[in-house]
Amino acid sequence: MTLRLREDAEVVMFAGKGGVGKTTLSAATALHLAERGYRTLILTSDPAPSLGDIFERRIGDRVVEISTNLYALELSAEEVLRRWKQKFGGEVYEVLSSFVPVREEIIDYIGSAPGIDEEFMLDYIAGIATGGEYDRVVWDTAPAGHTLRLLRMPAVFIEHLEEAAKVYLRLYSAMLKIRETLGLRRPSREVFDIIEGWKRLSEELIEFIRSPRVEVIPAGMPQGLSVAQVRRLMEELKKFGIEVNKIVMNGVLPEHPCEFHREMVRTQRRYLAELRRDYPGVELVEVPLLPVEIRGLEGIRRVERLLFGR
Ligand SMILES: Nc1ncnc2c1ncn2[C@@H]1O[C@H](COP(=O)(O)OP(=O)(O)OP(=O)(O)O)[C@@H](O)[C@H]1O
Ligand SMILES: [Mg+2]
Repeated sequence: MTLRLREDAEVVMFAGKGGVGKTTLSAATALHLAERGYRTLILTSDPAPSLGDIFERRIGDRVVEISTNLYALELSAEEVLRRWKQKFGGEVYEVLSSFVPVREEIIDYIGSAPGIDEEFMLDYIAGIATGGEYDRVVWDTAPAGHTLRLLRMPAVFIEHLEEAAKVYLRLYSAMLKIRETLGLRRPSREVFDIIEGWKRLSEELIEFIRSPRVEVIPAGMPQGLSVAQVRRLMEELKKFGIEVNKIVMNGVLPEHPCEFHREMVRTQRRYLAELRRDYPGVELVEVPLLPVEIRGLEGIRRVERLLFGR
């Protein structure tokens, strides 16, 4: 079975354990979309990005044109923080400095807190998807744990923000009294509005991730640990309200007469059969293990043909 992407999906992401082929599949998918006439951006915020390696091009914090309709971007942690600060820094300072006496450096500290980069990446990608500059975005993610954390982030944010609003409400009257002694800025009603705004933003992100505009495709290899991870992902995504109707199994071995290979093929077959049995409504797309390294557009095109069939 070959991969048929949902027509209305503007963002495609493969999720799975480290090293199962997410970057390879992402590159093949991006090339496929670009060659079908969609202006496509493939991007990653993986701290150890390999888009540059697979496309054999230097890619960094600026968008690089790879071929017709195909663009790539590797966002570094610093660039994510910089863009986050540009968008949210002022508001964060506004809110914090009305609680406690802080200097502007606090913004860097908050910006490097766990979760902020993920929340921002979601916001950033939603922005690109809506922005109209690209028809399709392929998001090359870091390994599964990271992706799941990332998808959960807006909900976690909402909880925190609700807490913050409550605390703020409690402090509000007390603060009015003590603000002169501490020399704080005058707290304003606007702080509530900012917190409300963040909450709304997080809610919109959750809605975006769950919408048909985003297609999340679990990817793995037909081996014990990887399959276990795919199963966990399926469960988590379902709990999260993300509909999954395809799984890609990469690195499927061809038949071979030697006993060592036959044994491996048997094991793989067993895992594939179990997945088919347990997820009857889900398309299982198999990509064979290639005997060569996958690099450059020619290598990626080879995977593209296997993945999408032609
Ligand atoms: N079908 C395949 N046949 C042969 N080699 C493959 C295949 N798929 C992936 N590889 C190779 O396996 C290695 C891991 O692939 P890739 O980097 O795409 O995985 P990843 O899931 O993105 O890893 P990470 O989690 O570290 O980002 C690469 O060297 C890649 O070229
Ligand atoms: Mg990768």
